[in-house]
Amino acid sequence: MDRILVTGGLGFIGSHTVVELQNEGFEVVVIDNLSNASISVLDGIESITGVRPLFEELDLRHKTEVISFFKRYSDLKGIIHFAASKAVGESVKIPLHYYENNLNTLVYTLKELSKIEHQNFIFSSSCTVYGQADQLPITEEASVKKALSPYGNTKQIGEEIIQDLCLVSDKFKAISLRYFNPIGAHPTAKIGELPLGVPQNLVPYITQTAIGKRDELSVFGGDYPTPDGTCIRDYIHVVDLAKAHVVALKRLLQSKNTNNYEFFNLGTGKGSSVLEVIESFERVSGNTLNYKIVDRRAGDVVSAFADTEKAKYILGWQTEQSLDDAMKAAWEWEKSL
Ligand code: WQD
Repeated sequence: MDRILVTGGLGFIGSHTVVELQNEGFEVVVIDNLSNASISVLDGIESITGVRPLFEELDLRHKTEVISFFKRYSDLKGIIHFAASKAVGESVKIPLHYYENNLNTLVYTLKELSKIEHQNFIFSSSCTVYGQADQLPITEEASVKKALSPYGNTKQIGEEIIQDLCLVSDKFKAISLRYFNPIGAHPTAKIGELPLGVPQNLVPYITQTAIGKRDELSVFGGDYPTPDGTCIRDYIHVVDLAKAHVVALKRLLQSKNTNNYEFFNLGTGKGSSVLEVIESFERVSGNTLNYKIVDRRAGDVVSAFADTEKAKYILGWQTEQSLDDAMKAAWEWEKSL
């Protein structure tokens, strides 16, 4: 059974990817430093698949711990690397934490990976690298612009580090996956999004408002040049996103050509406005959401949604779940907490 390392594997996308890897017969070892995830997620994964992944509580910023880990797990067939900080606004306030936690960890992991036999690496990237794209839908050929936040910059630099390694290493193979907006939860409601503190992202804020943990959703801006005045994003169901990671991993495991760096946009190809997301939530939950339109949030792009052709024709992957499916799963998850 191929053993795969998932760093940040107790996080939102990581945990859903562990489930899909186990569903496909992979043996999974999870590293997480529990800075933004709960150890109880292991129970959630096991309750879905019946298999408890191997788990090591480890902070990838500690180089000696990383070296020791890879000495014990030199038989890994691949790595899916999620471990990173991911809050755009927070990254502006504490940039050095982001550069250390998102980039030192990547370099330490890649250095140890390059000492073992199988060097297949999937990198968790983001559509943030495009900033406000000049053309929509956004293709992989769209120019990567100066990042609007240190978080976005760490994703751009991370991809460059990986690309540079691909050019010189004859065993290293990598794929970067540029997510649009991951939302939802597992249909069993055993795992889902667990934001610490006040949610920065739209969907957990919606479900927490509906459940009564928040008084009211603030819609950041109603005067954008869009049909209903609110920002447009490409909201992708987290289970669809998790499945894309397994498809990309299998592509690397089967591939013979090293020195080959690929990257894919992962989205539905459909843009939804903030008000459309609210309408979807109200439709699937039967609840009326308490919200008000307020000033714009600094740094927001007006509209972003993916061109899905490359992932469809080269990866052979496309989304299957709708916005309503994702909002329903998010709501079931919130009610289970
Ligand atoms: C979506 C829309 C907000 C909260 C970021 C990162 C991206 C990824 C996902 C990590 C925007 C509006 C939000 C609220 C609102 N992160 N909104 N009220 O900013 O598109 O993407 O998170 O991987 O890399 O850039 O996601 O959910 O914060 O915002 O009106 O309380 O919802 O203005 O238009 P975003 P988001």
